Amino acid sequence: MAILLSGRGSNMLALAQRCAQGDLEAKICFVASDKKDAYGIMMAKSLGLKTLLLPYEEGKEQAEKVLNEKLQSDSVDWIVLAGFMRMLSPTFVGKYEKRIVNIHPSLLPSFPGTQAIKDAFEYGVKVTGVTVHLVDEKMDHGPILSQREVRICDEDTLESLEEKIHAIEHDLYWQTLKNLFAGRFKMKGRRMTIEGPY
Ligand code: GRF
Repeated sequence: MAILLSGRGSNMLALAQRCAQGDLEAKICFVASDKKDAYGIMMAKSLGLKTLLLPYEEGKEQAEKVLNEKLQSDSVDWIVLAGFMRMLSPTFVGKYEKRIVNIHPSLLPSFPGTQAIKDAFEYGVKVTGVTVHLVDEKMDHGPILSQREVRICDEDTLESLEEKIHAIEHDLYWQTLKNLFAGRFKMKGRRMTIEGPY
């Protein structure tokens, strides 16, 4: 798999640890980012992972061309988004249909967008959570693979909610990818179902 990120990379780190422990039988071919100084890229380098800077300053087409060439030359099967703050073009998504995965910090379709945790907290919902889904051409959209709920208590602050959400993310992502990579998900109508124990 290749991991794409723009920020601190805690999900990338959690996945790298699960790969190293053998819980997730996958190889991280490279970690790519649109931001050369992303903390997640520094962390990936310190883990000895290959990194790739996507030249978005030269335009989306050029950035995706660079990404595409690297994906092909490394024979990457899966593209795993972990806090990647760019929309991939419909052409790119079409080329890698059902092979791009994203994690989002809300129960989609509620609260898409870049401020999902804050939006859910400020809305006053009692339950929010985490969604892992296949990526289509729309933002935070596509077949849902897994969701896990997080209760918001009266004592919660935005910070405590963020902590709870990230802890769930670090657990849910590798488990979902494990099932996905093993080919256990099947599409039934709009629903992705899982075969065997989960
Ligand atoms: C996570 O909350 C993820 O759900 C969202 O972006 C955030 C990335 O966090 N898509 P990190 O960079 O993995 O720490």
